[in-house]
Amino acid sequence: MNIGGKIALVTGAASGIGRATALALAKEGASVAVADLDEAGGAESVRLITAAGGKASFIKADVSTPAGVRAMFDAVDAVYGGIDIVHNNAGIMTGGNPNWPDASLEKIALVINVNVAGVIMGTREAVARMRARGGGVVVNTASIAALGPMPMDPIYAATKAAVVLFTQSCAMLAETEKVRVNAVLPGMVDTPIIGKTGDGTTPAPWLAPAIAATKMLQPEEIAAAVIDYVKDDSKAGDHRIVGNAR
Ligand SMILES: NC(=O)c1ccc[n+]([C@@H]2O[C@H](COP(=O)([O-])OP(=O)(O)OC[C@H]3O[C@@H](n4cnc5c(N)ncnc54)[C@H](O)[C@@H]3O)[C@@H](O)[C@H]2O)c1
Repeated sequence: MNIGGKIALVTGAASGIGRATALALAKEGASVAVADLDEAGGAESVRLITAAGGKASFIKADVSTPAGVRAMFDAVDAVYGGIDIVHNNAGIMTGGNPNWPDASLEKIALVINVNVAGVIMGTREAVARMRARGGGVVVNTASIAALGPMPMDPIYAATKAAVVLFTQSCAMLAETEKVRVNAVLPGMVDTPIIGKTGDGTTPAPWLAPAIAATKMLQPEEIAAAVIDYVKDDSKAGDHRIVGNAR
């Protein structure tokens, strides 16, 4: 897909990977709906895009509920009249104390609802609306946590594995709906989510050895993989690891 002149929606775009993708899509000429719960961060993403000569607006959104997802897409329709590109990126780790196996049932449900239901409902709404325009592209953010056991946050690992299998299962939508659905699997990226594994700003002790042994990725590296998927019309149901150099 040629990104110039298209309408893009990025969830979790107030921070980290979502902000970097929103900036990259705007640089390619898309008008970008910056969706997030975080109004201040969302406003800053819009400011950064506008300052760089791009077009963006903020939509306050909660991707963890059906009403939140529907309202987010309705807001995009109201502002832009349609949608061509969706990056289902908002995600949370279980974080804080207690972690597994003592996280509350409410916290477990929230992680699943944001990371899995948010992605599935976001893809569903994207397809329904892209159909009317003759197709589009969805990119979901999974994680390398999808690929192996993660004893300290098995809830997160399970949600990301679900995103990969969901994305693979959507391969046929390229034929039936002209909507290509793919996923990026980042390694460890230098974003605020790392601090949220601990007390909110400081990484959890269990993550410290991995951080020390790893060259952290920058959010722009993940954004570049998302842009590749949007542009590459041959890819559907695919997933790409953006791993850490050793
Ligand atoms: N940083 C990493 O090392 C890493 C690695 C692999 C995958 N990921 C994934 O990348 C994605 C982006 O994470 P990040 O690293 O940029 O973290 P981040 O914390 O900087 O950004 C996540 C954003 O999602 C938003 N969000 C959370 N719940 C939401 C909800 N219910 N509705 C709407 N927005 C919501 C937050 O407000 C935040 O702005 C996540 O899906 C995460 O799981 C991150």
